[in-house]
Amino acid sequence: MKTIRDFDLNNKKVIIRVDFNVPMKDGVITDDTRIKESLKTINYAISNNAKVILMSHLGRIKEESDKVKNTLKPVSIRLSELLNKKVIFIPNTRGSELENAINNLQNGDVLLMENTRFEDLPDKKESKNDPELGKYWASLGDIYINDAFGTAHRAHASNVGIASHLKSGIGFLIEKELDNLLPAINNPDRPFTVILGGSKVSDKIGIIENLVMKADYILIGGGMAFTFLKAGGVEIGDSLLDEDSIDFCKKMLKEHKDKLILPIDVVTNLKECFITDITKEEKGLDIGPKTVKLFKQYLDNSKTIIWNGPVGMFENDKYSNGTKGICEILKNIDAVKIAGGGDTASAVKNFGYEQAFTHISTGGGASLELLEGKELPGIAIIK
Ligand code: 3PG
Repeated sequence: MKTIRDFDLNNKKVIIRVDFNVPMKDGVITDDTRIKESLKTINYAISNNAKVILMSHLGRIKEESDKVKNTLKPVSIRLSELLNKKVIFIPNTRGSELENAINNLQNGDVLLMENTRFEDLPDKKESKNDPELGKYWASLGDIYINDAFGTAHRAHASNVGIASHLKSGIGFLIEKELDNLLPAINNPDRPFTVILGGSKVSDKIGIIENLVMKADYILIGGGMAFTFLKAGGVEIGDSLLDEDSIDFCKKMLKEHKDKLILPIDVVTNLKECFITDITKEEKGLDIGPKTVKLFKQYLDNSKTIIWNGPVGMFENDKYSNGTKGICEILKNIDAVKIAGGGDTASAVKNFGYEQAFTHISTGGGASLELLEGKELPGIAIIK
């Protein structure tokens, strides 16, 4: 697959699709990781004399009022600070102002176009990969570089559409994600242990089906553990239950009993106890300390560890010890350690354990689909 290194960028209009879908509160960016992670590719294009045209989505645009809070203007300001360079922001996604600005770019200039999903009104042109839109955006550049890993599981006009019409490659961010994630999933040093959490089993069925065949152990925490426990005959009180997934859990427990490691104790809204002592009115909200110790036995020997989904309701301090405990264990282990998924990444960062990981993916849904063994359309089109 071609990367940005394979092109002569000198004097070329290079469209770079980045994922600047950053969390915002009242117009202020609350986590600029995705912008920072894009800098390597943008700086490379600048220093190779490209005319840099950046495109990204931000949020989801379902009605006119969504546009105000999802403008990329604040992102252009933050990007300009990080690049220490002027970023030309064009508040449109098509038309003469955009086209003239692109035609006036000098080598090394950087332009950011408004949110690609503004084209979702009225008829989802971006999200449904409208052929005319992809062709139009492609007509604005000479080369297309996809560096939006977080969006690679979508087949939209700004990734699949443009790439169908232009010479295309991936940027350094996507390259780094694939270089870390693919060998860990497909050719891991063993023992290979997966930690799975999050609320619903149904969100993780694809991952479980794929990774149970590849991993040596899957440690299950979070809300989803209770559906597994229930399937194994444990009374879980008022804990989260994903009824529709019980049969799936029973099947998995029957076929892969020795690989699937479930919690043995729990922190509920009322107390800390063995899972067999949860009463009717109790809700399990975190794994207990004995489970953290149990998980440690598996993690200590592992050579590859992939973690997707917090093991408790970590946003609430009372139920964050399980997730913090896993971070602390991983900090002291010498292995390939990868965290994927939006919640896991933010838990790891909030608790200050970024350094404990070999790689923290910038993708939520995209890393999930990669773990499911799926091909991502935004990358397949470049291949
Ligand atoms: C993400 O944050 O997962 C990506 O930017 C994709 O966003 P989306 O789920 O709105 O398509």
